[in-house]
Amino acid sequence: MEATVNGVRMHWREVGHGQAVLFVHGFPFHSGMWEEQLARLPRRWRLIAPDLRGFGKTELGGKAGPLGMDLLADDLARLLDSLAIDRAVVVGLSMGGYIAFQLWAWHPQRVRALVLCNTRAGPDTEAGRRGRQELAERVREQGTKAVVETLLPKLTSERTQRERPEVVERVREMMESTPPETIAAASLGMAERPDSTELLPTIEVPTLVVAGGEDAVASLAEAELMAKEIPDARLVVIEGTGHLTPMEDPVAFNRALVHFLEAIEGH
Ligand code: MLT
Repeated sequence: MEATVNGVRMHWREVGHGQAVLFVHGFPFHSGMWEEQLARLPRRWRLIAPDLRGFGKTELGGKAGPLGMDLLADDLARLLDSLAIDRAVVVGLSMGGYIAFQLWAWHPQRVRALVLCNTRAGPDTEAGRRGRQELAERVREQGTKAVVETLLPKLTSERTQRERPEVVERVREMMESTPPETIAAASLGMAERPDSTELLPTIEVPTLVVAGGEDAVASLAEAELMAKEIPDARLVVIEGTGHLTPMEDPVAFNRALVHFLEAIEGH
């Protein structure tokens, strides 16, 4: 589906009816990373997976410079407006989690519950910021393909690489389809993102934290911290997965998500 949202032509995938569940993808992917959720979860929920600004089929708009997590969160609030949705369960993976924190910071009334997957609340270290800057420069000079080789090996577990090489290929295709200017802008935007640690105790909606047992990007310690600091949170660790749990083990991920969505339905 497509509409003009916050000044850009935005594309999203949508199935089902009922409580809205908004799936926010990571970097540098697109809504296709939620394919196994949209295809397999019960249709009694309204499942919505947008391509964020600059990713997938959504345009970047005229904006030059860093693509801030606050702007991406604002786009999502405007998307909910245009879909006449008051409150959604927000499921964010990695960068999608950074955006979910900004949504909570700026538009908490739009958040029914949170699912924080393979993400972290803390900001980048100095070295991390420098790495983002270098990535932005390299992708502008050499194009997307050149940076995919650096990022791809860190994203999935050994088991996924061995037993489900088709998942790694799908991840590669998604990454290669992302324009260099989006990769550069989002890298710089993530480098500037605020520390969300202090937000954690203010999160007063039910929260599910999902971690990959072998996530080399967002550590288990960071997932444990989020689960400890958010008052109504529980942690699920999916063993044998890396940074992309919903793609690497959709059966286990969907089971945890359905369990969570059913549990909050009664409240
Ligand atoms: C992601 O999957 O969204 C990225 O790993 C986030 C990041 O680079 O911090």
